Amino acid sequence: MRVEPLGEFVGADIDGIDLSRPLREEEVDFLRYAVSRYGVVRLRGQQLTDRQLMAMSGQFGALDVSPGYAGSGGAAGGEDDEVAKFVAVISNVVENGKPIGGLGDGEAVWHADMTYIASPPAMCALYALEVPPSGGRTGFLSLYHAFDTLPPALRERAARLQLKHDATYNSAGEVRRGVVVSDDPRHTPGWVHPLVATHPRSGRKLLLLGRRRNASIVGLPLDESEELLDRLWEHTARDDASWHQTWEVGDVIMWDNVATMHRRDSFPSDTRRVMHRTQILGSALA
Ligand code: SIN
Repeated sequence: MRVEPLGEFVGADIDGIDLSRPLREEEVDFLRYAVSRYGVVRLRGQQLTDRQLMAMSGQFGALDVSPGYAGSGGAAGGEDDEVAKFVAVISNVVENGKPIGGLGDGEAVWHADMTYIASPPAMCALYALEVPPSGGRTGFLSLYHAFDTLPPALRERAARLQLKHDATYNSAGEVRRGVVVSDDPRHTPGWVHPLVATHPRSGRKLLLLGRRRNASIVGLPLDESEELLDRLWEHTARDDASWHQTWEVGDVIMWDNVATMHRRDSFPSDTRRVMHRTQILGSALA
């Protein structure tokens, strides 16, 4: 097993682990350490069935139900409802007039997955089955780094505040199923977390921003909330603080969904991109 850092603040390549077979205890411990240390890790040249992706992910905690799962099979797994429940498809491919997955081919803006619920996923894994010849890179940044580098007065102010995370839109700007659309951040569905949270495993503090659209700071007038959030996002979502993954078929990326955020570049709509994703149940954030 070998680890090689990729970005300055986030990202590392791991060599020497075959994710298709049951992992040894030391491999699980090593990957856990690496995800915690580097925020996101990449393992290239993997060949996984959906069941193997589930089995691999399940060695890091209980699998979380995929956000798009409607209880009727389909997407990943075809008729295999267990796979459909735990493996999400991220794709622009349309078959028989129906998209086979979510997020299309446009940009997906910076976000962490499902921070609009009480216990967002702790970790996610994304496996590349088909990649476009250009575009579609996935960027990551560290929310520990964002917190650590805040000017001290802003850090102290942020540590006293709570942030409402919006559930209306996904990162591609699509409205989530069953949600009544509102663009007034004070009245949208979602969940309130501390703006500065303590990571449940590492105990380190991080700036928990979730996603920008429709976010609001509890108890502040909307214009003040917007101004403060703009400052925090400008500080955090910077190219020089992020690392972007250029995909190859067989890449598996695993990330700490509490300590990082990610985004995705758009890619040409006449090319195909197919990714399968799992997520591990998380805990409430304080
Ligand atoms: C995601 O936001 O979970 C998917 C990122 C990607 O498509 O690369």
